Amino acid sequence: MRGGQRSALVENPVRTANYLAERDSRIAALRGLLASLLRDHERIVLEIGCGHGHFLTAYASAHAGAPFCAGLDIISERVRRANRKCARAGLDARLAFIHAEAAEFLSVLPGHVRLADVFVLFPDPWPKRRHHKHRLIRGEILDGLAERAAPGARLCFRTDDREYFTAARATIGGHARWRIAGGDPAASWPFEYATVFQEKAAGYQSLVAVCESSRGACG
Ligand SMILES: C[S@@+](CC[C@H](N)C(=O)[O-])C[C@H]1O[C@@H](n2cnc3c(N)ncnc32)[C@H](O)[C@@H]1O
Repeated sequence: MRGGQRSALVENPVRTANYLAERDSRIAALRGLLASLLRDHERIVLEIGCGHGHFLTAYASAHAGAPFCAGLDIISERVRRANRKCARAGLDARLAFIHAEAAEFLSVLPGHVRLADVFVLFPDPWPKRRHHKHRLIRGEILDGLAERAAPGARLCFRTDDREYFTAARATIGGHARWRIAGGDPAASWPFEYATVFQEKAAGYQSLVAVCESSRGACG
């Protein structure tokens, strides 16, 4: 929610009530969808901010034995196009794209589901300091991911924004339950396939972090 919208909601109780009712109904629908979609899946590979789904479709195609793959995006048209791609590739049984916001998704992910690996590729950098709270790599999201991560789960992050990379590395490195893998990230990167934003980027940086049960509560 933008700052202007928030102040309008604070000032207008009817709009606040409508906003809360819409949010509750959206979250209830998401809870129902995930309960049914993930009923038979104890582990999933998750991509947050999947755009048109190129990366995860290629990943699922290349990994026939991988856990169920789920891609999230807040833009419904991107999710529709991603699901068309998934159907054309005949991957419906192993891959789905979901219209959902990351924090809301984590809040209603069924209790039996654990995250095997998580990809966050070229997320919006939100360059202005006052907008950093919208970044996907932030404490609240890292907490939620760690709470649902299987032991040894990897968080794979890639961006072409140098400042965001530095900030994300500090945030992840300072988190109690994520340890940044040493060595060359290119060597530990699980699967190379250029996303739409990667194709446009002049350069980029990557990191792989591992969820450690000894440092907290993964799994
Ligand atoms: C810059 S695009 C990158 C898309 C794709 N990963 C790529 O590399 O081509 C970032 C995507 O993240 C989505 N997004 C932003 N915030 C999100 C959130 N909180 N939850 C889920 N998706 C989000 C946006 O709608 C957008 O499609």
